[in-house]
Amino acid sequence: MTIHFPEGFWWGAAASGPQTEGRLTNDNKGTSIWDHWYTTNPEKFFQGQGPGQTTQVLTHFQEDLRCMEEIGFNSFRTSIQWSRLIPKGRGKVDPEAVAFYHQYFDEMLARGIEPFVNLYHFDMPMTLQNEGGWLNRETVTAFGDYAKICFDLFGDKVKHWFTQNEPIVPVEMGYLYQQHYPAVVDLSMAVQVGYHEALASALAIQKFRQSACDGQIGIILNLTPTYPKDPQDPADQQAAVLADAFFNRSFLDPAVKGTFPKELVAILDDLGIRPVTEAADLTVIRDNTVDLLGVNYYQPRRVQQKRSPKQEQQPMPEDYFDYYDWPDKKINPYRGWEIYEKGIYDTLINLRDNYGNIPCFISENGMGVEDEGRFKNASGMIEDDYRIQFVKDHLRYVHQAIEEGAHCLGYHMWAATDNWSWLNAFKNRYGFISIDLETQERTIKQSGYWFKEVIQENGF
Ligand code: BG6
Repeated sequence: MTIHFPEGFWWGAAASGPQTEGRLTNDNKGTSIWDHWYTTNPEKFFQGQGPGQTTQVLTHFQEDLRCMEEIGFNSFRTSIQWSRLIPKGRGKVDPEAVAFYHQYFDEMLARGIEPFVNLYHFDMPMTLQNEGGWLNRETVTAFGDYAKICFDLFGDKVKHWFTQNEPIVPVEMGYLYQQHYPAVVDLSMAVQVGYHEALASALAIQKFRQSACDGQIGIILNLTPTYPKDPQDPADQQAAVLADAFFNRSFLDPAVKGTFPKELVAILDDLGIRPVTEAADLTVIRDNTVDLLGVNYYQPRRVQQKRSPKQEQQPMPEDYFDYYDWPDKKINPYRGWEIYEKGIYDTLINLRDNYGNIPCFISENGMGVEDEGRFKNASGMIEDDYRIQFVKDHLRYVHQAIEEGAHCLGYHMWAATDNWSWLNAFKNRYGFISIDLETQERTIKQSGYWFKEVIQENGF
């Protein structure tokens, strides 16, 4: 059966500044938490590869964009690095950074690729982190100022803005599970960090609406549909409701509805760890919800009622549910993530039914595979038929959701090119376009050529 997507569907892929740009000798970029962490703990990063080089987009962006044009992308998301544009997080703007982003966005537009631009992708400037980062209320103000500077500088070129990518990740990874700097474990700090991020996003949206910019502004959330082990069991159901409140609705509700989930607020009250707030905050959050939602979908979350003993040292989200390891799951062994295609459909239907059918798009979906060089054919192209299968299987469900009324406007893969993945560095490759790290040569993979046909047909 052939499936067709709506006219004007956004086809493309995503990336982020910190995972692609790299550094130039003597550039003016300020230190981000990633640059800092690599200096103090390089052993944490896969094969000791840090954020300094990544895929050298600063000097190779034309080649990347040439490949994206060849594939036929009509849109591409990346992020501005706060610590590149404003090296100290607030104050002086670096003119070299301004020139670079202008060139980058101009080149996209010249190639018929619309820039979708995100403002924060896990990359806190170190000067602000030293003052507490997202724990510090002042960071919210600094983020609003940074956002305004971006709108003023690039608003004539960028018509789709995003305040943050996956704001739950700095909360989880920085303050609960120790995969991001500052790698502490403290639920009450995690709550304050999350609250400030949600407020900062609303503040940036307010600045956007006050600016002369046209276009739309949204947020990118990683929505992990939460399934109870036994859907008929009320205790399992309740475990799923609470896990969903912690990891999805904590940002989805304020971003789309301007409110926080009552289940989460009740838990925080019970633990006595409500975040510190100011009187006008809830009005800012209520009045500045998103125009558009980016949905990153990789994997579901499966839970069951809490039976295992609680963590004794301190409260954790897992005090309210146990994870459930579904024996029939399909898994991507390189990343350890379950592959469950129907989750993308369930997510879109949830947005249709419970979030006013907000305009949205799939802003990331993809499959990281280790050692992809082994799939290179004689002409040097990576034959990644597993990725083609992965995208096809997810796109079928996206299409079904659209047929059933979901307001989904596009599909972006993670990622356009292979790129640097935080602590995993270059372990797993995600791109439609491979990069030889020695030569920096870019080569479109088989999946990229397949995607080209999909774009040409607007379906498959
Ligand atoms: C998303 C992020 O969560 O997943 C990306 O927005 C990230 O920054 C991607 O790279 C894949 O995850 P990972 O950890 O394998 O790089």
